[in-house]
Amino acid sequence: MKNIYLDNSATTQVDPEVAKIMTEYMVEKFGNPSSIHFFGQQAKYAMDNAREKVAKVINAGVKEIFFTSGGTESDNWAIRGFVENYIKKNNKAHIVTSRIEHSAVYETCRMLEKKYPQLITVTYLKPDKKGHISPYEVKKALTSDTVIVSIMHVNNEIGAINDIAEIGRICREKCVLFHTDAVQSFTKIPINVKTMNIDLLSASSHKIYGPKGVGLLYVRNKVDILPILFGGKQESGQRNGTENLPGIVGFGKAAEIAMKTYKKDIQRIGSLRNKLYELISKDVKDIILNSDIEEGYEGILNISFDGVEGESLLLALDMEGVAVSTGSACSAGSVKPSRVLLGIGLMEVDAQSSIRFSIGRNNTMEEIEFAGNAVIKAVERLRSMSWM
Ligand SMILES: Cc1ncc(COP(=O)(O)O)c(C=O)c1O
Repeated sequence: MKNIYLDNSATTQVDPEVAKIMTEYMVEKFGNPSSIHFFGQQAKYAMDNAREKVAKVINAGVKEIFFTSGGTESDNWAIRGFVENYIKKNNKAHIVTSRIEHSAVYETCRMLEKKYPQLITVTYLKPDKKGHISPYEVKKALTSDTVIVSIMHVNNEIGAINDIAEIGRICREKCVLFHTDAVQSFTKIPINVKTMNIDLLSASSHKIYGPKGVGLLYVRNKVDILPILFGGKQESGQRNGTENLPGIVGFGKAAEIAMKTYKKDIQRIGSLRNKLYELISKDVKDIILNSDIEEGYEGILNISFDGVEGESLLLALDMEGVAVSTGSACSAGSVKPSRVLLGIGLMEVDAQSSIRFSIGRNNTMEEIEFAGNAVIKAVERLRSMSWM
């Protein structure tokens, strides 16, 4: 059997149709969208077209979409761009976020409170046992100094889905800006920035079968954020630097394809996830299910295996040709237990025994059966040698 990829939350395989159109915009229609000659205008037209496609996914206006280099830049820009602008004219800013945000949000908040200790304070909300941030807790955390709330839509390690519509409603009612990191949910779960009262939203192309190195920040009309890159006035002067044309065109194509297939995809992905869990839980004792099978995002299954080190299991599965992860891609390689798993109340030892299986639209039932059996055998072997 060929290698089996169960790490779709880290990144996805580029769709062949996406790769095809990207090649066209690298090799033939390679103009700089800022140029006024034919090549440039052709490029600009393609970029505007891609902007329309991604805007449609979240019911945004085209003028509210700014292309970036990916989810990390979008998260950094949303929070820094707003808060650092705000404190120029005001002497206090309070941010509400959570303990289980992606590092792109979490570390940005940590940086801001360190850089401006007199001006910026941050509240990191604790999730419940399933990884949800309660809208009620968000409301309770708001103070007269709160200027922005940043709560992710789908958690990348365990798949918990937050009630962003309710959080958005609370923020709008209190005149506080609401940013959501929708990197794991964009094109997978319906989002409507208008009805959900979202002011800022981050998404990334490589999680949706598009290329790496391109993403977007939605900035609601009239929300004032400062650029973090200065230069040649691209993206209406908000995000400067020559646009990644092939990447943007590919992102647009990937969004268009995903919007046509997501309903079918999510159903199939859910049944593959359920099968994988069924296979593992039937034959492996002493496991902790860290994902919410009933209400969480269908593509993520996170399990802790008692007495087994997550990294050892990952390597054992890799030898069998099954690619998984021990947490978010960004925390892989670090020996620290996952902040997300500790956040939902796991003990360190259980957090370090966890594996994230993330399923995508290219996986098959045959692959899931193979992977399930590989897990059963690997856990049995590792436990028989374990001293934990
Ligand atoms: C929830 C979340 N936010 C942000 C990012 C960062 O996105 P990018 O890889 O495009 O920088 C990721 C990537 O894993 C993610 O899962």
